[in-house]
Amino acid sequence: MIPVFDLKRQYATIKNEIDSAVFSVLENGVFVLGENVAAFEKEFAAYNGNKHCIGVASGTDALILSLRALDIGPGDEVITVANTASPTVMAIMSVGATPILADCDSHYNIDTALIEQKITRKTKAIIPVHLYGQPCDMKEIRSIANKHSLKIIEDCAQAHGAEYSGKKVGFSGIGCFSFYPTKNLGAYGDGGAIVTDDDELAEKLRMLRFYGQKKTYDSLFFGYNSRLDEIQAAILRVKLKHLESWIKARRHIAKLYNELLSGVIIPEEKTGRKHAYHLYVIRIKQRDALMAYLKERGIGTGIHYPVPIHMQKAFSLPGNYPKAERNAKDILSLPMFPELREEEVRKVAEDVMYFLNNKI
Ligand SMILES: Cc1ncc(COP(=O)(O)O)c(C=O)c1O
Repeated sequence: MIPVFDLKRQYATIKNEIDSAVFSVLENGVFVLGENVAAFEKEFAAYNGNKHCIGVASGTDALILSLRALDIGPGDEVITVANTASPTVMAIMSVGATPILADCDSHYNIDTALIEQKITRKTKAIIPVHLYGQPCDMKEIRSIANKHSLKIIEDCAQAHGAEYSGKKVGFSGIGCFSFYPTKNLGAYGDGGAIVTDDDELAEKLRMLRFYGQKKTYDSLFFGYNSRLDEIQAAILRVKLKHLESWIKARRHIAKLYNELLSGVIIPEEKTGRKHAYHLYVIRIKQRDALMAYLKERGIGTGIHYPVPIHMQKAFSLPGNYPKAERNAKDILSLPMFPELREEEVRKVAEDVMYFLNNKI
């Protein structure tokens, strides 16, 4: 079996560090907003090149709290992309705002040429999603946002370690991360974080995650219970030390796939950007047949995502998004995780090429 991802392999490489971090939290007896959360927030902010990091309960909450911090709510519109994970759009709906979708470009991120025509008097923000770990065209998005006085919330849930012009993503106002276990930096449960350089926003976000309180038992506005917990923070502190080497391993695997595959559309890394390869996604017309063939051969794959946002029942949004719709039929995520062995990458590529060459 070659799985699409395997968290057990990673745990085996860091077991001692993780076990002692978890046990020390249990021994300390502080489980919420303790020293590990404070230390992780400092360490992740430093890693990412931001002034502040606020640990929250999930990537979805990171987006919801960010929208709330920017006072975005009913009557407001927020532009995002049609082929994201559903939580990007659910977060917009959670605060009562209206999601406005734009199609993606041929390499899966929001097509910046389509953004301006979506802007109305009600538009308050853009949420670019660095899908699969590939940074969006932030220069263009920032220039559109500046021109129309819009806020930017970067959805970095899949892009820990990705860079644009030498900067880690999450540098355009607010960046939202998920620590869902399979992410490039994953907890052993749910978790998320918001990064920003803005002192006022950081303070508001800290209150929003804690019932709108600055001081305990005195809520100043409607808030949430959305805190990264101590055990997850202790785990993330251990894992953060390995993140750069894991990104390097992901990039090495991607390079190898790129060299070994032909006849399928491989991921693109645009000049000046560093793809963090959360997922390695190819495009091929005979996707379903290839997926079934690989499954028979013991190779796990995934589809991220099989149904574009506007076609999901929960959203049923108007409009046609031809590239998002086409991609949903053609994309396939091949096995990708730092511990994937070179011979396994070669085996996956060999089987894909055999399928293609023999038109199975
Ligand atoms: C692009 C994107 N945005 C948001 C999220 C939400 O993160 P979480 O699952 O931590 O709530 C995810 C994770 O699934 C994601 O992939």
